Amino acid sequence: MTQKLLFVCLGNICRSPAAEGVFLHLLEKRGLSDQFVVDSAGTGGWHVGNPADRRMQAAANRRGINLPSRARQISLDDFSSFDLVLTMDDDNLAAVQVLAREAGPRATASIKPMLSYAGRFSETEVPDPYYGGEAGFEHVLDLLEDACANLLDELSPPA
Ligand code: 4NP
Repeated sequence: MTQKLLFVCLGNICRSPAAEGVFLHLLEKRGLSDQFVVDSAGTGGWHVGNPADRRMQAAANRRGINLPSRARQISLDDFSSFDLVLTMDDDNLAAVQVLAREAGPRATASIKPMLSYAGRFSETEVPDPYYGGEAGFEHVLDLLEDACANLLDELSPPA
């Protein structure tokens, strides 16, 4: 059965497109692409239609990871069409929980902080790299590579 995952941040141009790209890359490496639907969205709509931030794309590309995302804003329908919604920070989590309540009983998706899957890091939030330097983008990828690998291990345990 296909598992449907939605990664969510604020602008959908840095952290959640990176999470999407990292997860897609892992799926490809493990030959599991046909078992998942993966997307990302922002709680805000300022960047709708835009590709991932150039700095986030460059950092991902250096690790051999492509970021195919075009920004979109999360919608109430997402809570019925996805199985799992993964939030990058506490603000995203709170915003998503409000929307899920608004969606009512049709909101069947589970909602979890992305870093609840972290293994090598004790941080609980993926920090917003938008106003910082290059190291911030690298750190976002370090956190996401760790959490995405553990998430995939849980959803599709290695044989
Ligand atoms: P993201 O980063 O939530 O990781 O996509 C941001 C990008 C843009 C803005 C905020 C956060 N912004 O305010 O424009």
